[in-house]
Amino acid sequence: MRRPIVVGNWKMNTLLSEASQLVAKLRDNLAGVTEVEVGVCPPFVYLPAVNEALKGSNIGLGAQNVYFQEKGAFTGEVSAAMLKDVGCKYVIIGHSERRTIMAENDDIINKKLKAVLGKGLIPIFCIGETLEQRQEGITERIIRSQIDAGLDGITSDDIAKTVIAYEPVWAIGTGKNATPQQAQEVHLFIRKLIAHITSDIIARDIQIIYGGSVKAENAQDILSQSDIDGALVGGASLDAEAFTRIVQSAKR
Ligand code: PGA
Repeated sequence: MRRPIVVGNWKMNTLLSEASQLVAKLRDNLAGVTEVEVGVCPPFVYLPAVNEALKGSNIGLGAQNVYFQEKGAFTGEVSAAMLKDVGCKYVIIGHSERRTIMAENDDIINKKLKAVLGKGLIPIFCIGETLEQRQEGITERIIRSQIDAGLDGITSDDIAKTVIAYEPVWAIGTGKNATPQQAQEVHLFIRKLIAHITSDIIARDIQIIYGGSVKAENAQDILSQSDIDGALVGGASLDAEAFTRIVQSAKR
């Protein structure tokens, strides 16, 4: 059975003292929780400090981005090996903010997925349609093209290790979450696509999580859908109590 997973994407938030306080509270709140896989993705600069603060807990460390090259003259970039070296388990790839603000395309995202999988890290591969695309009725076409291009040339074994995050762009940071039914429909569609490119067993076992204005108040409804295996949480992950409630809601 798929284990639920809830990951906090802190984005460009927190100073070091706030990051430390947040982690300390999460450690306390989530000490007994084993049924749900939990991760936090602080800004790059706090990864070593947060890693230290998480030692001995069941919360995994993740990064919000990575560069696909191994090393060299790439000013300002961070490699998968470096992320692994400072204790990361997860790396968010293809987040819509990176696709739009930083102009990342499917080709770059594909290279990043390969780089991360090559180092034994778990990618959290984000996909999702914009509001215009949903209104035009081309959500499935967009999802299919993001999956096909993002996972191009990646083996079934590696796809099986990937967490897919469905994040409708119109729901991110807007307070407008997809209805549980809207999200479930797309999750089921993604699972079918994965079955088509890998196998029924991999599709059955792959973790597909939802992101976009997940809050303590709506988590239960969203996370109770049969093909929604957890959440990628932005804003609410900065509030230890709210994030804890979301994790509790993910228990099956
Ligand atoms: P949000 O962000 O929860 O603030 O909408 C989700 C995300 O960007 O992963």
